[in-house]
Amino acid sequence: MSQNDNSTIYEMMGGAESIRRLVEVFYSKVQKEPLLSPLFPANISPVIEKQIMFLTQFFGGPTLYSDSHGHPMMRARHLPFPVTKERADAWLGCMQDAMDDVGMPADLKTFMIDRLRGPAYHFVNTTEEE
Ligand code: HEM
Repeated sequence: MSQNDNSTIYEMMGGAESIRRLVEVFYSKVQKEPLLSPLFPANISPVIEKQIMFLTQFFGGPTLYSDSHGHPMMRARHLPFPVTKERADAWLGCMQDAMDDVGMPADLKTFMIDRLRGPAYHFVNTTEEE
């Protein structure tokens, strides 16, 4: 992929409808993943809406998350939850599978996973699952 400009990534993802589809497929996988599902509420809709806003902003689209929720402080927002290395692996695995399911081009997928890997392991805050 020759482009690495963030706003281009948001556009390359296909804009709002494509991001919504990706995030919905992602959380359907999270809810079936034994390491991740216990951490999430049964009503996943509010989490989906926040993640759509965050990923839109993270990949260079409109600053929807900050506009609604303030500074992202994402590591701090994950501190109430036991995020292990295994859970970071599982989170990234669900995201890769979701990208495959929505038919994302391989080079775009690789770029986005590379951008998400740093935050995912940065959010690790324990070696204990409980
Ligand atoms: C490393 C593994 C991860 C685990 C186990 C995890 C787990 C969670 C959990 C349990 C929540 C709270 C759900 C609730 O509202 O009850 C959450 C919220 C969220 N996560 Fe993660 N997450 C991970 C990685 C990531 C990554 C890599 C990103 C994006 C770069 C991300 C973005 C978000 C966002 C935007 C929210 C909503 C925050 C809010 O409440 O405003 N997470 N995550």
